[in-house]
Order: sequence, then structure tokens, then C-alpha cells
Amino acid sequence: MTTRQAESLITAKAIASFEATPDERLRHIVQALVRHLHAFAQEVELTEQEWFEGIRFLTATGQKCDGLVRQEFILLSDVTGLSMLVDAINHRAGGGATESTVFGPFYIEGMPERGYGENMAYTSGQPALITGRVLDCQGQPISHAVLDIWQTAANGMYSGQDVDQPIGNLRGRYRTDAQGRYAIRTILPVSYSIPTDGPVGQLLDATGRHPWRPAHLHFMIKAEGYRTLVTHLFNDGDPYLDSDAVFGVKDSLRVAYKPYEADHPLTAELDMATGFQHARYDFVLEQAPS
Ligand code: BEZ
Ligand code: FE
Repeated sequence: MTTRQAESLITAKAIASFEATPDERLRHIVQALVRHLHAFAQEVELTEQEWFEGIRFLTATGQKCDGLVRQEFILLSDVTGLSMLVDAINHRAGGGATESTVFGPFYIEGMPERGYGENMAYTSGQPALITGRVLDCQGQPISHAVLDIWQTAANGMYSGQDVDQPIGNLRGRYRTDAQGRYAIRTILPVSYSIPTDGPVGQLLDATGRHPWRPAHLHFMIKAEGYRTLVTHLFNDGDPYLDSDAVFGVKDSLRVAYKPYEADHPLTAELDMATGFQHARYDFVLEQAPS
């Protein structure tokens, strides 16, 4: 038997060992995983030292997770493009719905309910207002949709991640009115670095990649009868739009903020005393499969 034949036999035996898996989907996934792992080791001619370094890296990745805000495995999935590939596989529909993007590790459930135009920023930054509607694929407004929002403070950190910020800072749940309208008062999002003090940061460093994400606002939008939409709005013109560390940018999710003076009609409606940056965006939700 040649060396190659001996290697193929190991792969065949390992795949066959999962043949009796009762759950068909699990069998398919595990066997494909083993096949691809073996092909990877053969392609790079993995040395024993590199195999052990891989084990050490994955162990350190698990040890960095704290079960609350720090999820280093999701971060690893994000920087290798796996998260966005899974997103693409699962949102092929088209049909005019707003595109989705990466969820990220910084969402916190149960943040304050906010009124129309309420300010969710307790820390300072450039005042900003985002307004628009939530619509169905026929262009009809969806009332009572909930927009769950989160963004970093001007220091590039999320509340929960940064102990100096009150937990509800730059987070909140806004509800659309009878015309499907929403208004979010906040500060202008800034570009920020993903966490680099763990194994994923070491990987980026060793491979000469930067850890920056372009400025964005996170949205998770829910409405009864519609598929939940997880997405961002990115600041148009941000220098990192073409090199997002987690590959999350889609052109349809860019918004241009325009400066408005304090005497704009919106300021009276929302009682905004200063000038602000304004962006408009209409979200379109896809009907849930029945
Ligand atoms: C975020 O946008 O919050 C994020 C996404 C992926 C990795 C790290 C952060
Ligand atoms: Fe983010």
C-alpha cells in the first residue's frame, strides 16, 4: 500500500465510523466535516507542531469566552468570513426585502423601550437622527414593528463591554407608529476596532490584517407575520467600508448623513435644541413562511 492509499484509508474509516448516526442531517454534517478536515490537513501537509498549535489556538479561543459579552468563537467565525457566508446561504430570497448582515457579539436583550424620537445616547458625541419607515414587500407600512438598536459610544465601545457606560446607553427598542414610521435620536456612529486582546487579535496581527469595522448602527427588527431582520446601517464615506474586518458591508445598507440646523422642522417635532446629522432609511420585511 502506498502512503497516499494509507492516508485515504484513514479518511474513509473515520467517515464510515459515523455511518450509523440516527439523525440524517447530523450524519451528513459530521461526515462532510471529517472529509473537509482531512482534505485540509493533506492540502497544507500539516506538521505535528502546527497541529498542536491549532489545538492550542482553539483552546485559548474557548478560554476567552465568558458566556456573557465575550464570545471569541463568534469573533473567529466573523473574521474568517464564515458568519457572512452562513448569512448569505440563509438569505438568498431577494424579493425586495432589506439585506441582512452579521449579528455580532454585543447584542443585549431587554433594553429600554423608547418613544418616537427618544434619545438613546447618555454619552456625548455628534447628535444624529435616523428616520424612516418599516414596510412590507408591497410597500405597505408595518405598524407596531419593534426596532431593537445598539451602537458603540464615541470611544468605540459598547455598553456591557465598557464598564464605565450605563447598560442602556446607545441601546433601545423603538416601535413604529400607525404609518410604519420610526425616529431614533442618538449620536453619529463611529468606526471601531473589534476586540484584539485574545487569540483572534493575535491571528489578525500575525496575518497583517487590521481589526476595524466601519461606523454602523445595529438593527434587529421584529414584526408579527414577518421574518426577523438582523442588519446594520453603515455611514457612507467611512474609510473602512471596503475592508471591514468581518466582511459585513453591503452597498444597499449605506446611508448618507446630512447636517441639519437646529431650526429644521424636525427639531420642533422632536424638541432637538442643537444641529444634528440626519439619515433616512426605509426597511422592508419579508413575510414569514406560513
Ligand atoms: C459588531 O458589529 O458589533 C461586531 C461584529 C462582529 C464582530 C465583532 C463586533
Ligand atoms: Fe457593531
